Formats: sequence, structure tokens, C-alpha cells
Amino acid sequence: MRVAIVGSGYVGLVAAACFADLGHEVVCVDNDSAKIAALVAGEVPIHEEFLPELLTRHRGKRLKFTGSLPEAVRNCEIVFIAVGTPPTPQGDADLSYVEAVAREIGLQLNEYAVIVEKSTVPVFTCQRVRRVVTLNASAPIEFDVASNPEFLREGTAVTDFLYPDRIVIGADAERAAQILKRLYEPMTSGEYYRQPNAIAAPNASVRIPPPLVITSTQSAELIKHASNAFLAMKISFINAVANICEAVGADVEQVCQGVGLDSRIGQRFLRPGIGWGGSCFPKDVMAFRAVAQECGYDFGLLEEVMRINDEQRNRFVRKIRNTLWTLKSKRLAVLGLAFKGGTDDIRESPALALIEELLREGCTIAAYDPAAMDRVRAERPELGITFCANPYEAADAADALIILTDWDEFASLDLARLHTALKYPIVVDGRNLYPPEMMAEKGFMYASVGRPTAAPSHKPVLSATTVNGSTR
Ligand code: UDX
Repeated sequence: MRVAIVGSGYVGLVAAACFADLGHEVVCVDNDSAKIAALVAGEVPIHEEFLPELLTRHRGKRLKFTGSLPEAVRNCEIVFIAVGTPPTPQGDADLSYVEAVAREIGLQLNEYAVIVEKSTVPVFTCQRVRRVVTLNASAPIEFDVASNPEFLREGTAVTDFLYPDRIVIGADAERAAQILKRLYEPMTSGEYYRQPNAIAAPNASVRIPPPLVITSTQSAELIKHASNAFLAMKISFINAVANICEAVGADVEQVCQGVGLDSRIGQRFLRPGIGWGGSCFPKDVMAFRAVAQECGYDFGLLEEVMRINDEQRNRFVRKIRNTLWTLKSKRLAVLGLAFKGGTDDIRESPALALIEELLREGCTIAAYDPAAMDRVRAERPELGITFCANPYEAADAADALIILTDWDEFASLDLARLHTALKYPIVVDGRNLYPPEMMAEKGFMYASVGRPTAAPSHKPVLSATTVNGSTR
């Protein structure tokens, strides 16, 4: 099928590469000419597993890039809108980019097409897109507007796309539903997964073929907002439980195991930490709250979900302060800058928010992140972070090591080397990557989230009040 995708951010670019891998002819359009030039030249603008190989496989063949929307839209039977929907200062979604694209599509449409929202948008956006396209069409043209929300996570975007828990198609017209069903047929028939060069399944528990859920456009739009809000709520819930664990000396990891084994609850998205961030949860929870308000429903639960999330970061700063006593002039080694492991995305990164707070308290920061350092260097030069080549360089002569994102690499550090590098063997882990007893055995004082702080029994690190003449 011939598919145009407007917007080449995370969702647009990954969808374009994956649709090409499913066998479709895809043209990806963006008004950022530098980005299009880079994509044409073979560059990969985001850090995402399997994306480079899919782009290499299809670029210039089944996958084309252009800055011209008219060129992309004409003669395509499906046009996806995958542009940004950033938050306004009031918290609702800014839909001006979606509107602008809808207007242009209206001007260009020359034969029937299904216009599909893939960006996360509030309920009734399909209706609004329909109206804008109709108002701008140069001649009366038949078209449909559908919603096909995307549930991919950054870092695992390609496998999330190709091995989804479900495919949701929100269409009010049968013709549009049939076209979108055909688009996903290589997946729903299982044919794609039988191809020798298909991207391999991430684990044995993925459902093949993925189930297809056909709904109205309003329901599909709500499915996306409700899913993200529910996941954020799940994380805030377990973070709140972690705080109770800390108060009573329980271990949140044990609690998670016991709670998560209930199949009605499940283990996933029950990892406590420093709170959720990223380009989706913060904006979508706020936007869903605004949508509810507009519909006359006060969804106060979501307010609390956000409050717990903010408080989680503040608590973590307090934890670092409690562990180190004072923060002023402390040199801290920080592992992780992105909003989570496996990505270079620093939007709404809890790690960066924490670093800002630590800098305000007078700390100096030596940081390492496997993928996000270039971005922080370019976008946040004012922070004055020292960037290091590896975790041990960051730890060199530091007063403590702070773990802020859950990269696999950070969960398998050479602890003996780390111990030697640090000035004091103190680790404050915001992602619970190590068993506390094991860290104590290796000679560390180890504070984490929702678990008792562990310290080596032979050498209580914080008993010394003066080291080298200075009060700690
Ligand atoms: C999310 C949704 O998962 C995805 O379905 C949607 O399409 C886009 O938004 P993403 O933002 O890429 O994906 O990241 P995700 O893996 O969901 O993590 C979001 C935040 O929650 C991160 O800051 C992460 O560290 C945090 N998180 C996640 C936890 O703190 N604990 C968990 O158990 C899971």
C-alpha cells in the first residue's frame, strides 16, 4: 500500500521504517529540511535499536523522505499525521501542528484517502481534523479520518511496533477500517513473522499475531490517553508504596513481586524509582486531566498521580542529602541523563531535574550516559556538567555515585573498580539496580528506593564526621 507519514519524530520515523519492513511503499515528510537531508544522507537522528538497520534496508527503495507535503500526500491512500502535540502552558495539548497539517492535506488531497492520527491527541480530534480538511479542500473529495494510536516506548520502539500487545483502529467508516486492516495484515495474518529477515521477537511472551481492536474514533483516542495515564498511575502507586516501605523497613522489591504476581495487576510498570518522565507521560497525564475537565468531569486522581511523581524527585534529593549529610561543594558522580535507559531522549528527564536541584544545592556533577551526553552538551550547556567517558571516570574522586537511569550497563558495573575510584564508597541508586546486601558485602554504603539502606558492617561509612580536616 502507498503510505505517507507526516512528521518524522520518534513515532513517525519508527512507523515509517516498520511499515516499509511490512512491505508497504512509504514516504516520510517533515518540514525540518535539515532532518530530511540527514535522513536522505543515511543518518539516524535518534538512538533506537534496529532503526539503523531498517533504514539501511529500505531507504531509497520502499522508504523515501521528502520536505514536500504535496509530493508525499498525492497518490497515497493512507496519510498518517504523526506531528508533535506539546503541552500548552495550561496543560492541554497544543494541536496547532495537527491543524496545520490537516489544512495542508485538505489543500492537496486529489483522491480518496484515509487520514489517520497517530500522534496522541484528545478525544474528538478526528472530528476536528475532518472539519479542517473539508474546509480547505479545493474540490469536494471523499476521505475518512481515523485514529490509530501508537503505544511504542522509546528504546524498544521498533519491536514494540512490530510485536504490539494490540493494534487499535478507531474508524467510524467501514471503508477506512478495511483499509487500515489491510495495512496491518502482514502482522495480523502472521505473515511478517514467518519471513526470514523479519526483526526478531523481543521475547517469547509476545502475542503473535497481535490482536486487532476496532473501535469508534472517540474510543481509540481515549484508549491512548487512558493507557498512558493508567501506566503513570501504576508507577506513582508503587512509588507511594515504596515510601511506606521505607517508613516501616519493608523491601518494595519483595512487595512488588508479591503484588505483581496477581495476574490482575501484573509485574510490568511496577518498578519504583525517581518518578516517570519523558515526552509522553507528563504531557499525556496533564492533557487527559484537561480533556476530563472540558467534558465536565473532575479527574482528581490524575492530579494526585502527578503530585506523587513530583514528590518522588524531591524525596530522592532528600535521600541523597541524608546519605551525604550536606551537599554544598560535594562532587557527585551521576550515571544517567536521559529520562530512562536505552534512549538519548532528555525531554522531561527526571535525571536532569534532579541534577538541576543538586547543582542548586552547590554540588558539582561528573556524569556519564551511554547515549544522551551529546544532547545534554548541546541543549543544556548552562548546567556545567563534566561529561565522562565511562562510569569509572565519573566516579573518580567523587563523594558518592548517584544512579539515575536504568541502563543495563549500570546494573553490571565492576564494583571493585568503582570502589577504588570513589573517594567514599557511597552509592545512592534511584533505580534499584543492585541487591542492598550484596552492595554492603562489596563495601558500599548503598541507599535505594523503598528498601532499607545497607552499609558494610565493618566500616560504617558515615560514622566519620571529619575527613582530612573537613567536616562531612
Ligand atoms: C510511554 C508508554 O509506555 C508508551 O506506550 C507510549 O507510546 C509513550 O509513552 P516511553 O515514554 O517511551 O513510553 O517510556 P516508558 O518505558 O513508558 O517509561 C516512561 C517513564 O516511566 C520513564 O521515565 C521510566 O523510567 C518510568 N518508569 C517506567 C518507571 O519509573 N517505572 C516503571 O516500572 C516503568
